[in-house]
Amino acid sequence: MADVRFRPFVWSDIPAITAIYRHYVDDTVITFETEPPGEAEMAERFGKLLTLRHPLIVVEQAGQVVGYAYASFYRPRAAYRFTCEDSIYLSKDVVGRGIGGQLLDRLLEDSRAAGFRQMIAVITAERANSVRLHERAGFQHVGRYEAVGYKFDRWLDIVHLQRAL
Ligand SMILES: CC(C)(COP(=O)(O)OP(=O)(O)OC[C@H]1O[C@@H](n2cnc3c(N)ncnc32)[C@H](O)[C@@H]1OP(=O)(O)O)[C@@H](O)C(=O)NCCC(=O)NCCS
Repeated sequence: MADVRFRPFVWSDIPAITAIYRHYVDDTVITFETEPPGEAEMAERFGKLLTLRHPLIVVEQAGQVVGYAYASFYRPRAAYRFTCEDSIYLSKDVVGRGIGGQLLDRLLEDSRAAGFRQMIAVITAERANSVRLHERAGFQHVGRYEAVGYKFDRWLDIVHLQRAL
């Protein structure tokens, strides 16, 4: 993991972030989006995170953006305001090297500092590495929803894991 650096988001990260996410929309069931958002849409989404002062971290390796993570409201209604949901996406070229664990640890710290009290991970049930990543970070399994997603001609379950901050 030489040269890995975690830093705040800057606007010039948008093209790299859009490209990283596009792969997971187009080719995987990790996200339940089916149309990849373009750079303008991603800029709008990230602008909202900045406005809300939600945690947003970018990972660089050798000067290239190779991943990002953020925490945002779990649900929009006001009484949920102390509960966040995490999102972590690494470039497919750097998965499986332990960067995700470090990124999640930092996101947990930043989310606590931002005033969140609980974090919920919503994960496609079959994604064992993502489930394992969260278990290692102290998340507990709290539920499973069956066949709530449909992508690439099959039904998908999701699991929820939770960690107090
Ligand atoms: C999920 C993600 C953030 C994990 O980060 P990572 O740096 O790749 O993490 P790793 O795969 O190295 O490690 C995660 C853990 O899963 C384990 N793991 C990997 N593949 C596994 C498998 N098929 N079954 C069970 N465990 C597995 C690893 O051994 C590791 O556990 P350990 O630390 O106890 O050894 C990253 O792979 C990623 O961005 N994936 C695509 C997007 C995504 O899935 N985001 C999460 C959405 S909730």
